[in-house]
Amino acid sequence: MNNIKRNVIITADGSTTIEMDGWNEHYHSTHGAISEARHVFIQNGLTYWKSMNVKAEVCHLLEIGFGTGLNTWLTYIASQDDDVVMNYTGVEAFPIDSELVSKLNFTKQISSDHASIFKEIHDVKWNERAKLSKLFFLEKMTKKTEEVDDTNLYDLIYFDAFGARVQPELWTTSIFRNMFTALKFGGVLVTYSAKGSVRRAMIDVGFVVERLPGPIGKREMLRASKKN
Ligand SMILES: C[S@@+](CC[C@H](N)C(=O)[O-])C[C@H]1O[C@@H](n2cnc3c(N)ncnc32)[C@H](O)[C@@H]1O
Repeated sequence: MNNIKRNVIITADGSTTIEMDGWNEHYHSTHGAISEARHVFIQNGLTYWKSMNVKAEVCHLLEIGFGTGLNTWLTYIASQDDDVVMNYTGVEAFPIDSELVSKLNFTKQISSDHASIFKEIHDVKWNERAKLSKLFFLEKMTKKTEEVDDTNLYDLIYFDAFGARVQPELWTTSIFRNMFTALKFGGVLVTYSAKGSVRRAMIDVGFVVERLPGPIGKREMLRASKKN
C-alpha cells in the first residue's frame, strides 16, 4: 500500500481528501469529507457517547485509521468545552507525509483558529503519548489494525478503515471480535459502512447494532454497542 500514489482532491462540500491512485478509494466520502466525519464520528459517535455517559470524567477513544488527522482534530474541537479527559489513540499502518498534510484544507474550511492544533496533531511523534491541552492526550501508533489486542480499554472506537471492497481483511468477524474485546462494557463503535456482511459480523461477535441515517450521499451507517 505504501507504493500507491496518493493525490489530494476536493470533495463535494469543498473539503479535501486523499485518493489512492488507481484504487478508486478515498480517505473520506467524496460527497464531503468534513460532512462525513462530523456526521459519522462526531455526531453519532462522540456526541452520542457523551449523551449516554454524562457523568464520565475520561473518554478512552481508539481510531482505526488515523489518516489525515481530520477525526482527531474535529474531536479536539468538539471536546474543548467539556470537563472530560480525552485519551485519543490513533492507529495507522501507513502514515502520510508532511507534503500531503500541507495540501489539506480542513482548517481553511472550518476554523483557522484551530490551525495551530491541526499542525500540533501532525507534529506529535509517533508512538509517544502527547499532551495537546489540559484535557486532551494523543498517541498516534504505527501499527496494524490486525495487531490491536487490548481488553476492556476503550469507551469509543472510530472504525475508519478503507472499504471492504479494497481491504476485506479489516471487516471480518476476527477483527470485530478484537474490537469488541478492546471496548469496555457500555462502549460504542461507529463506522461509515452499512454493508450487510459487516453488520452480520458485528452481531456474530456480540454487538448490538443500529442502522442510522448516513452522511450526505450515503443511505445508512452503523453504530455497534457492547452492552452489559
Ligand atoms: C479511510 S482512511 C482513514 C481516514 C482518517 N480517519 C482521516 O480522518 O483522515 C484509512 C486509513 O487506514 C490506514 N490503513 C490501511 N491499512 C491499515 C491497517 N492494516 N492497519 C492500520 N491502518 C491501516 C490507511 O493508511 C488510511 O490512513
